[in-house]
Amino acid sequence: MSVVDIKNLKKGYRDPSGVGMVPVLDIDTLQLEAGKHTALKGTSGSGKTTLLHCISGMILPDSGSINLLGTDITTLSESVRDRFRANHIGYIFQSFNLLDGFTALENVKLGMQFADKKLPASRAEELLVKVGLKDRLNNRPAQLSVGQQQRVCIARALANDPEIILADEPTGSLDPKTSAEVLNLIREVAEGKTLMLVSHEEQVLNQFDVQLNLETLNKAVTV
Ligand SMILES: Nc1ncnc2c1ncn2[C@@H]1O[C@H](COP(=O)(O)OP(=O)(O)OP(=O)(O)O)[C@@H](O)[C@H]1O
Ligand SMILES: [Mg+2]
Repeated sequence: MSVVDIKNLKKGYRDPSGVGMVPVLDIDTLQLEAGKHTALKGTSGSGKTTLLHCISGMILPDSGSINLLGTDITTLSESVRDRFRANHIGYIFQSFNLLDGFTALENVKLGMQFADKKLPASRAEELLVKVGLKDRLNNRPAQLSVGQQQRVCIARALANDPEIILADEPTGSLDPKTSAEVLNLIREVAEGKTLMLVSHEEQVLNQFDVQLNLETLNKAVTV
Protein backbone atom coordinates (compact mmCIF):
# COMPACT_ATOMS: atom_id res chain seq x y z
CA MET A 1 0.00 0.00 0.00
CA SER A 2 1.25 3.49 -0.82
CA VAL A 3 1.38 5.76 2.17
CA VAL A 4 2.39 8.66 -0.06
CA ASP A 5 0.86 8.81 -3.53
CA ILE A 6 1.60 11.87 -5.63
CA LYS A 7 0.09 12.53 -9.04
CA ASN A 8 0.78 15.30 -11.56
CA LEU A 9 2.42 17.54 -9.00
CA LYS A 10 3.38 20.99 -10.22
CA LYS A 11 4.93 23.72 -8.12
CA GLY A 12 6.56 26.94 -9.23
CA TYR A 13 7.55 30.17 -7.54
CA ARG A 14 6.90 33.69 -8.70
CA ASP A 15 10.18 35.19 -9.80
CA PRO A 16 11.39 38.14 -7.72
CA SER A 17 10.25 40.67 -10.34
CA GLY A 18 6.76 39.31 -9.69
CA VAL A 19 6.09 38.90 -13.41
CA GLY A 20 6.80 35.27 -14.36
CA MET A 21 6.67 31.93 -12.66
CA VAL A 22 9.75 29.75 -12.25
CA PRO A 23 8.78 26.07 -12.49
CA VAL A 24 10.40 23.98 -9.77
CA LEU A 25 8.52 20.67 -9.60
CA ASP A 26 6.73 18.77 -12.35
CA ILE A 27 6.33 15.15 -11.23
CA ASP A 28 3.95 12.69 -12.90
CA THR A 29 3.86 10.11 -10.14
CA LEU A 30 5.72 9.37 -6.94
CA GLN A 31 4.76 6.69 -4.47
CA LEU A 32 6.25 5.72 -1.14
CA GLU A 33 5.27 2.34 0.20
CA ALA A 34 4.35 1.71 3.82
CA GLY A 35 7.37 1.14 6.02
CA LYS A 36 9.92 1.71 3.24
CA HIS A 37 12.94 3.98 3.69
CA THR A 38 13.72 6.12 0.64
CA ALA A 39 16.68 8.41 0.03
CA LEU A 40 16.20 11.44 -2.20
CA LYS A 41 19.10 13.10 -3.93
CA GLY A 42 19.43 15.86 -6.51
CA THR A 43 21.68 18.86 -7.09
CA SER A 44 21.30 21.98 -5.01
CA GLY A 45 18.27 23.93 -6.16
CA SER A 46 16.60 20.94 -7.85
CA GLY A 47 13.57 21.18 -5.54
CA LYS A 48 14.14 18.58 -2.83
CA THR A 49 13.10 20.86 0.04
CA THR A 50 10.17 22.15 -2.01
CA LEU A 51 9.01 18.55 -2.52
CA LEU A 52 9.26 17.77 1.21
CA HIS A 53 7.40 20.98 2.03
CA CYS A 54 4.63 19.93 -0.37
CA ILE A 55 4.40 16.38 1.04
CA SER A 56 4.22 17.77 4.58
CA GLY A 57 1.51 20.24 3.58
CA MET A 58 3.59 23.22 4.71
CA ILE A 59 3.11 24.60 1.21
CA LEU A 60 0.49 23.78 -1.42
CA PRO A 61 1.40 22.74 -4.97
CA ASP A 62 -0.01 24.71 -7.90
CA SER A 63 -1.77 21.57 -9.14
CA GLY A 64 -1.87 17.82 -8.67
CA SER A 65 -2.74 15.56 -5.78
CA ILE A 66 -0.78 14.50 -2.70
CA ASN A 67 -2.49 11.52 -1.18
CA LEU A 68 -1.23 10.63 2.30
CA LEU A 69 -2.74 7.60 4.04
CA GLY A 70 -5.77 7.93 1.79
CA THR A 71 -6.33 11.69 2.22
CA ASP A 72 -5.56 14.17 -0.56
CA ILE A 73 -4.06 16.90 1.61
CA THR A 74 -4.30 19.47 -1.20
CA THR A 75 -8.07 19.52 -0.65
CA LEU A 76 -7.80 20.35 3.07
CA SER A 77 -8.04 23.83 4.58
CA GLU A 78 -4.84 25.19 6.12
CA SER A 79 -5.91 24.46 9.68
CA VAL A 80 -7.04 20.91 8.87
CA ARG A 81 -3.79 20.37 6.97
CA ASP A 82 -1.79 21.58 9.99
CA ARG A 83 -3.68 19.15 12.19
CA PHE A 84 -3.12 16.35 9.69
CA ARG A 85 0.62 17.09 9.75
CA ALA A 86 0.70 17.07 13.55
CA ASN A 87 -1.02 13.69 13.59
CA HIS A 88 0.77 11.88 10.81
CA ILE A 89 4.07 13.51 9.82
CA GLY A 90 7.36 13.96 11.62
CA TYR A 91 9.60 16.55 9.95
CA ILE A 92 13.33 16.80 10.61
CA PHE A 93 14.65 20.11 9.33
CA GLN A 94 18.23 20.70 8.25
CA SER A 95 18.17 24.00 10.10
CA PHE A 96 16.52 22.40 13.15
CA ASN A 97 13.77 25.05 13.63
CA LEU A 98 13.88 24.64 17.40
CA LEU A 99 12.33 27.38 19.52
CA ASP A 100 15.19 29.31 21.15
CA GLY A 101 13.42 30.29 24.35
CA PHE A 102 12.37 26.74 25.23
CA THR A 103 14.26 23.78 26.64
CA ALA A 104 14.82 20.53 24.76
CA LEU A 105 11.97 18.96 26.71
CA GLU A 106 9.61 21.86 26.04
CA ASN A 107 10.49 21.83 22.34
CA VAL A 108 9.47 18.18 22.10
CA LYS A 109 6.33 18.64 24.20
CA LEU A 110 5.08 21.69 22.29
CA GLY A 111 4.23 19.78 19.10
CA MET A 112 2.28 17.20 21.10
CA GLN A 113 -0.40 19.77 21.89
CA PHE A 114 -1.51 20.01 18.27
CA ALA A 115 -2.19 16.32 17.71
CA ASP A 116 -5.50 14.56 18.28
CA LYS A 117 -3.84 11.49 19.75
CA LYS A 118 -3.24 12.38 23.34
CA LEU A 119 -0.04 10.51 24.08
CA PRO A 120 1.29 10.76 27.63
CA ALA A 121 3.46 13.85 28.26
CA SER A 122 6.10 11.50 29.70
CA ARG A 123 6.73 10.38 26.10
CA ALA A 124 8.71 13.57 25.42
CA GLU A 125 11.22 12.73 28.11
CA GLU A 126 11.38 9.08 27.05
CA LEU A 127 12.19 10.12 23.49
CA LEU A 128 14.93 12.50 24.60
CA VAL A 129 16.45 9.72 26.69
CA LYS A 130 16.25 7.45 23.65
CA VAL A 131 18.16 9.93 21.46
CA GLY A 132 20.85 10.18 24.16
CA LEU A 133 19.93 13.48 25.83
CA LYS A 134 19.01 12.25 29.30
CA ASP A 135 21.32 14.84 30.87
CA ARG A 136 20.29 17.73 28.60
CA LEU A 137 16.51 17.84 29.03
CA ASN A 138 16.46 21.37 30.39
CA ASN A 139 19.06 22.89 28.06
CA ARG A 140 17.86 25.46 25.57
CA PRO A 141 19.02 25.07 21.92
CA ALA A 142 21.89 27.57 22.38
CA GLN A 143 23.14 25.37 25.22
CA LEU A 144 23.34 22.28 23.00
CA SER A 145 25.86 21.19 20.39
CA VAL A 146 24.72 21.02 16.78
CA GLY A 147 24.51 17.21 16.90
CA GLN A 148 22.50 17.42 20.13
CA GLN A 149 20.11 19.95 18.56
CA GLN A 150 19.55 17.53 15.69
CA ARG A 151 18.75 14.80 18.24
CA VAL A 152 16.12 17.07 19.80
CA CYS A 153 14.63 17.50 16.32
CA ILE A 154 14.50 13.73 15.90
CA ALA A 155 12.74 13.35 19.26
CA ARG A 156 10.32 16.15 18.32
CA ALA A 157 9.57 14.53 14.94
CA LEU A 158 8.62 11.31 16.75
CA ALA A 159 6.59 12.90 19.52
CA ASN A 160 3.20 12.18 17.96
CA ASP A 161 4.19 8.73 16.70
CA PRO A 162 3.70 9.66 13.02
CA GLU A 163 3.41 7.14 10.17
CA ILE A 164 5.54 9.30 7.87
CA ILE A 165 8.93 10.87 8.59
CA LEU A 166 10.48 13.45 6.29
CA ALA A 167 14.11 14.38 6.90
CA ASP A 168 15.77 17.20 4.94
CA GLU A 169 19.55 16.71 4.91
CA PRO A 170 19.51 15.85 8.61
CA THR A 171 23.23 15.12 8.65
CA GLY A 172 24.32 17.99 6.41
CA SER A 173 25.90 20.08 9.17
CA LEU A 174 27.41 17.26 11.23
CA ASP A 175 30.93 15.82 11.32
CA PRO A 176 31.30 12.30 9.83
CA LYS A 177 31.13 10.44 13.16
CA THR A 178 28.09 12.35 14.46
CA SER A 179 26.53 12.14 11.01
CA ALA A 180 26.77 8.33 11.07
CA GLU A 181 25.32 8.20 14.60
CA VAL A 182 22.42 10.50 13.73
CA LEU A 183 21.65 8.58 10.54
CA ASN A 184 21.62 5.28 12.44
CA LEU A 185 19.35 6.84 15.03
CA ILE A 186 16.89 8.10 12.42
CA ARG A 187 16.78 4.74 10.68
CA GLU A 188 16.25 2.98 14.01
CA VAL A 189 13.42 5.22 15.22
CA ALA A 190 11.85 5.15 11.74
CA GLU A 191 11.76 1.35 11.70
CA GLY A 192 8.36 0.31 10.37
CA LYS A 193 7.54 3.90 9.37
CA THR A 194 7.65 5.45 5.91
CA LEU A 195 10.80 7.58 5.70
CA MET A 196 12.00 9.95 3.00
CA LEU A 197 15.45 11.36 3.70
CA VAL A 198 17.25 13.94 1.58
CA SER A 199 21.01 13.69 1.31
CA HIS A 200 23.91 14.56 -0.96
CA GLU A 201 26.31 12.17 0.75
CA GLU A 202 27.10 8.90 -1.01
CA GLN A 203 27.80 7.07 2.26
CA VAL A 204 24.31 8.05 3.43
CA LEU A 205 22.54 7.27 0.14
CA ASN A 206 24.20 3.87 -0.12
CA GLN A 207 22.47 2.69 3.03
CA PHE A 208 19.02 2.96 1.48
CA ASP A 209 17.37 0.25 -0.58
CA VAL A 210 15.30 2.79 -2.47
CA GLN A 211 17.17 5.76 -3.90
CA LEU A 212 15.43 8.43 -5.96
CA ASN A 213 17.07 11.16 -7.97
CA LEU A 214 14.84 14.20 -8.18
CA GLU A 215 16.43 15.25 -11.43
CA THR A 216 15.19 12.12 -13.21
CA LEU A 217 11.81 12.24 -11.49
CA ASN A 218 11.22 15.90 -12.23
CA LYS A 219 10.29 17.29 -15.65
CA ALA A 220 10.74 20.90 -14.52
CA VAL A 221 14.30 21.96 -15.17
CA THR A 222 15.35 24.28 -12.39
CA VAL A 223 19.11 24.12 -12.26
N1 LIG B 1 10.11 30.89 -1.51
C1 LIG B 1 10.71 30.84 -2.73
N2 LIG B 1 10.51 31.82 -3.66
C2 LIG B 1 11.08 31.74 -4.87
N3 LIG B 1 11.87 30.74 -5.29
C3 LIG B 1 12.12 29.75 -4.41
C4 LIG B 1 11.56 29.75 -3.09
N4 LIG B 1 11.97 28.62 -2.45
C5 LIG B 1 12.74 27.96 -3.34
N5 LIG B 1 12.84 28.63 -4.51
C6 LIG B 1 13.58 28.18 -5.71
O1 LIG B 1 13.15 26.85 -5.97
C7 LIG B 1 14.24 26.03 -6.39
C8 LIG B 1 14.28 24.78 -5.53
O2 LIG B 1 14.63 25.13 -4.19
P1 LIG B 1 14.77 24.02 -3.05
O3 LIG B 1 15.07 24.72 -1.80
O4 LIG B 1 13.57 23.15 -3.10
O5 LIG B 1 16.05 23.21 -3.60
P2 LIG B 1 16.87 22.02 -2.94
O6 LIG B 1 16.92 20.91 -3.93
O7 LIG B 1 16.30 21.71 -1.62
O8 LIG B 1 18.35 22.64 -2.81
P3 LIG B 1 19.48 22.42 -1.66
O9 LIG B 1 20.13 21.08 -1.97
O10 LIG B 1 20.43 23.54 -1.90
O11 LIG B 1 18.82 22.47 -0.32
C9 LIG B 1 15.48 26.90 -6.31
O12 LIG B 1 15.82 27.29 -7.62
C10 LIG B 1 15.06 28.09 -5.47
O13 LIG B 1 15.70 29.26 -5.92
MG1 LIG C 1 17.04 21.89 0.35
